[in-house]
Amino acid sequence: MPSDLIDRETDPDATETGIAPVDGMLHPDRNLALELVRATEAAAIRATPWIGKGRKNDADGAAVDAMRAFLATVDFDGVIVIGEGEKDRAPMLFNGEHVGTGHGPACDIAVDPIDGTSLTAAGRQNALSVIAVSDRGTMLDASGVFYMDKIVAGPAGRGVLDIRRPIGENLRALAAAEGKDVGDLRVAVLDRPRHARLIEQIRDAGAGTWLLLDGDVAGGINAARHGTRIDLCVGVGGSPEGITTACAIKALGGFMQAVPAPRDEAELERAVASGVDPDRVYELEDLVAGDNTLFVATGVTDGGLVDGVRRDGPVIHTSSIVLRSKSGTVRRITAEHLVSKWW
Ligand code: FBP
Repeated sequence: MPSDLIDRETDPDATETGIAPVDGMLHPDRNLALELVRATEAAAIRATPWIGKGRKNDADGAAVDAMRAFLATVDFDGVIVIGEGEKDRAPMLFNGEHVGTGHGPACDIAVDPIDGTSLTAAGRQNALSVIAVSDRGTMLDASGVFYMDKIVAGPAGRGVLDIRRPIGENLRALAAAEGKDVGDLRVAVLDRPRHARLIEQIRDAGAGTWLLLDGDVAGGINAARHGTRIDLCVGVGGSPEGITTACAIKALGGFMQAVPAPRDEAELERAVASGVDPDRVYELEDLVAGDNTLFVATGVTDGGLVDGVRRDGPVIHTSSIVLRSKSGTVRRITAEHLVSKWW
């Protein structure tokens, strides 16, 4: 193992809690990531009774309550930059809310108790519970605009792709960088009427589509991971999901750009007032700055990234993934929980 990686992984200055002061500041570390998994596991477990019940607000509410309760026990000073909405509209996990015990590293935090509430309500695959964390002041507050146009790929996309170029050109450039034929590329896109032309252009270029019912966080991560069926994820999706995805892409060494996509004049004005530039191409570093991001996700329903929550008699099984940019690690955590401790 390279010595610089060993140094980063062992943190010789770590305190008893494993939190290492750097520049006199505490920063999010791998132990925090493991603590945060407890919160995504809890959210996923609490959402499971609502799978397939057609009531997405109840599923989301159960996940939010569980995530909030667990976050309160974690030793960190988190400020929610990407939350469930503004304070007036969503009483829980609202943007600007402080979470954690207030002791430990000062962090920005993005929460998505369920990415895929409709998937959960319908009983479909690919719903996740997600938390992403970075150093305080490093996450873009994108709450002024609901959607962003995004492009996400693995390391091969760096210096090769550009969201300003036509999709066909990008596909040819990515294929050349990956040593593949364009016909071998699969592109994840949210299956929405707004993407009809984009889907046509992808197919005209010779590539295949991988249409997502919902959940472009998992789509983006799968595009950036080595050895998946997806090479690229493109199209307009939620801005909050864009920021959480960016935290994961940093850990994967991947490529991402995003451009705000206001739905109307009023939103465009709100975006500008909140400091979001609707004409700017936001690079990965603009979406989340620095090299200290953590991304944790637990499967609610089965998906290409992680399995969903599964109950087997007295035991609940959860599957989670933890991505850490400082060490470039992807960890998988499976856990067994006693049903009797939960219900
Ligand atoms: P929610 O579960 O929070 O509703 O988000 C699901 C999702 O599919 C995201 O993954 C995606 O970014 C966004 O919704 C797309 O929005 P829309 O469904 O309006 O096209």
